[in-house]
Parts: sequence; C-alpha cells; structure tokens
Amino acid sequence: MNKLRTAARQVEFIGSFPEDPPVLGLPEVAFVGRSNVGKSSALNKLLGAKAARTSRTPGRTQLVNLFRLGEVAVFADLPGYGFAKVSKADRDRWKSMIDRYLAMRTDLRACVVLVDGRLPPQGLDVTMIEALGTYEIPTIVVATKVDKLSRGERAKALATIEDGFELPKGALVPFSSVSGEGVDDLWRSLSDVLG
Ligand code: GTP
Ligand code: MG
Repeated sequence: MNKLRTAARQVEFIGSFPEDPPVLGLPEVAFVGRSNVGKSSALNKLLGAKAARTSRTPGRTQLVNLFRLGEVAVFADLPGYGFAKVSKADRDRWKSMIDRYLAMRTDLRACVVLVDGRLPPQGLDVTMIEALGTYEIPTIVVATKVDKLSRGERAKALATIEDGFELPKGALVPFSSVSGEGVDDLWRSLSDVLG
C-alpha cells in the first residue's frame, strides 16, 4: 500500500469550479477523457467512495471537481469532451477552459487520459494526448470498460490502442470500474508520476 493510496482514505471533496479552481499547493493529477468514457466511475473506484457523480447522460460534468487526498495530492476531474450534442459555443468554452487549466496549474504533475477500451484511437483523444505532450505533462493512458471485451477481442483491442497512441509497451492501463481490474496498476502509475 503506497503513501498516495493510503492518503486516498482521507479524501475530501473540495468543490466544483467553472474556472480557476483554488490552488492547494499539493501535486495535482487531472483526469480527462471523452464524455461517458467512465471517468467519474474510475475516480469512484480509485477513491473507494461516491466521490464523483456518474451519469448515464453524457456531458453532465462541466466543472472542474477537486478532491484532496489527505496532505499528499489533489485529483482534478475535468469536464469530458466529444459529446455530440453540445453547441459550438460549449465546445469553445471547453477548449479555453482546458487550455487555461493546463497553462495555469503549476502543481499539475500528470494527466490520466481515459479512453474507451473497446474503440480504436479517437481523433479527440489523439488531440488531447498531443496537447499534453506540448505542455510536457506526463500522461497515463487508461483503457476503460475492459470488462466489456471478450477474451478473444481483448488483446487485439488493447494492441490497437497502444499502437495508435504510440505508447511504450506495458504503459497502457486496462481498467474496469465494474471488476476492479487495473485499480492496483493505476495507483502504481500515479505513485510513480507523483514521485
Ligand atoms: P461524463 O462525466 O458524463 O462525461 O461521463 P464519465 O466519463 O464520467 O462516465 P461515467 O463514469 O459517468 O460512466 C458513464 C457510463 O458508463 C455509466 O453508465 C457507467 O455505469 C458506465 N461505466 C463506467 N465505467 C464502466 C466500466 O468500467 N465498465 C462498464 N461495463 N461500464 C462502465
Ligand atoms: Mg463524469
């Protein structure tokens, strides 16, 4: 059990912020991904509580939700992207919010990018990962909903994601909020990036 994971037992919800979340002076990790990818479910699984609100309706979370893990780290749940039914104005607002967040959060140590384990690399995910590269933010890519892949589909689906995002071998974290697969691996990766 690492220090970070132990601190997660004392998770505290700090609040939801439309812009410029408060600076807490702790290393921060942001969670990003397409709408409905399972971001809030993954956070709940990690934090072992109903920490983040999940929904069947994509595009619900339009705020930055901050969680403080004891005195060790901050997790930021960022709004999802790629929800078809949002207006151009909403998309522009999302983009400027993310740009501002990435540029301003000096405590940001890493981003967890959640992608759907059943889908080949999606354009918006590629754009997001490239943007993180531009800002030189270490990235952990997590493939969600792997419980929905059959044994036969699994290896191929995960290899397609690794190849598409040009990830080093073994870097992709297969994850399921249903089975709990990947929880230990993700905590390990998070500990590594937070030093
Ligand atoms: P928004 O905040 O609305 O963008 O979505 P989100 O990325 O936070 O997704 P959320 O966690 O709300 O999950 C979306 C839907 O996917 C819900 O119906 C979840 O129950 C389902 N889901 C999430 N993770 C998993 C998973 O690992 N396996 C399966 N089978 N379903 C999942
Ligand atoms: Mg959510």
